[in-house]
Order: sequence, then C-alpha cells, then structure tokens
Amino acid sequence: MPKNFYDKIPTHVAIIMDGNGRWASKKGLPRVKGHEAGIDAAKKVINIAGELGIKYLTLFAFSIENWGRPQDEVSYLFSLFDKAISLYSDELIEKGVRVKFMGALSLLPENIQQGIAALSSETANNDKLTLVIALSYGSRQEIVDATKAIALEVSQGQISIDDITIDTFRQHLYLPELPDPDLIIRTSGEKRFSNFLLFQSAYSELYFTPVLWPDFDENEFDKALLDYSNRKRKFGKL
Ligand code: IPE
Ligand code: IPE
Ligand code: MG
Repeated sequence: MPKNFYDKIPTHVAIIMDGNGRWASKKGLPRVKGHEAGIDAAKKVINIAGELGIKYLTLFAFSIENWGRPQDEVSYLFSLFDKAISLYSDELIEKGVRVKFMGALSLLPENIQQGIAALSSETANNDKLTLVIALSYGSRQEIVDATKAIALEVSQGQISIDDITIDTFRQHLYLPELPDPDLIIRTSGEKRFSNFLLFQSAYSELYFTPVLWPDFDENEFDKALLDYSNRKRKFGKL
C-alpha cells in the first residue's frame, strides 16, 4: 500500500501514459521496448487503484492520431495489446475489475475487437474498480459523434432543440455513465491534452510529471494522489 494517507481520494483518475518511446531511446532500445515496459507500469497502477478504492481509472492507451505513426509501431502495439488481454484477463476478472473500452473501436483489427468485446462482457458485472481503456480514442471525434446522434434525434422528432442540455450531451458520449475525471495525470513532461476528454475535463485537477510512463510506479502515483488531496476544488464558487 502507498505510504501516505490521503485526505481525499479521487473517484475517477485518468492518465495520459506518455513517454514510452523516449524511455526506450534513453536506454538505447527500440521504441517498442518502451511500450512493453509501459504495459507493466499500467498493470501496477491498476492494482494500486483497486487497493486504494479508486472507483474509475481511465488509461489513454492509443489516440486516434496515433494511427498516423509508422505501420511497424502500430502493428507492434496491437500485438502487445492482444497479448496483454490474454495474459491479464483472468487476473482482472478475479480482482473484480470491470473493463470498458472507449474510442473509434471499429477501426481496430478484428482480433482486438473480439478480445475487447469478450473482456468487456466477462467483466460487466464486476464493481470494485471500473477500468476504462481509451483506444483509438479522440475527444473531438467523440464530441462530433455525440452532436450527430443528437441532430439525428432532433431531425426524427424524438427530441426538440430545447431538450438539448449538458446532461443530454453527456448521455451521447461514448461512456455516458462515466463520471468526469477528478484528476488527470500526464507523464513525460508534456503539458497538453492531446485530444483526451476535452468535454469531461472542464473541472478536473491536472497533474504533470516529467517521469516517463514506464518509470511511473507506486511512489509516483502516491505523489500525484497526495498533491490532489491538497487541492481546493472550487467549481467557480467561493
Ligand atoms: C505513449 O508513449 C504511448 C502511446 C502514445 C501509444 P509515446 O510512444 O508517445 O512515447 P514518446 O512520447 O514518443 O516518448
Ligand atoms: C497521447 O500521447 C496519447 C497517448 C498517451 C496514448 P502522444 O505521444 O500521442 O501525444 P503528442 O503527440 O505528444 O501530443
Ligand atoms: Mg508521446
């Protein structure tokens, strides 16, 4: 268990797991070795989140823009995801983790689509920790998709324009039941969202660390959670 006792624990932590390639390059290794090490870091964070009683953990694993990377890297990443799904499914099921995926999932290779559908349904009744993997995910695309779905409902007379509220909009996001993230962590020193949860992050607390994702461990997670526990959230009020 982490050494610190926190004043408050976030309900939903979302992480932009960045810096795998730089981690590998620094060690003179091919970039893909960084992705391999990144999977181990993700596993650690999932376990800690479960132990701490965090209810939702969202991991940004592959952005819609990441499709533009060299074909070799993309294929290797998907072979790693495939392996990780078969290796860790049983453990996730056993630990009571409910796994959900969000993104443009129809773009994924067929074997990955099958693997994630199976894992989602096998874990659907778990309720300890909800793990959301953002895969082939782009927030602008999500917002446009929601807008299109709402426009269709209006054009078919199912709802009127006046029925469109923030809540209606939320109900058309990929995972409507997912609460907004309380804390968003980005590793590797970059300070940007890179098309991640733009609607949902309106009042999220942000934590940036120069640590590269494969080096993000229990101690680093502990620091982020401690920092969060000392924030004063105001939501525009006094
Ligand atoms: C994050 O690490 C993982 C993915 C985007 C898939 P990067 O691959 O972006 O690593 P850097 O940023 O090049 O170091
Ligand atoms: C964001 O990292 C996406 C993931 C961590 C999956 P990137 O490495 O793709 O972001 P940019 O290109 O530096 O903004
Ligand atoms: Mg990167």
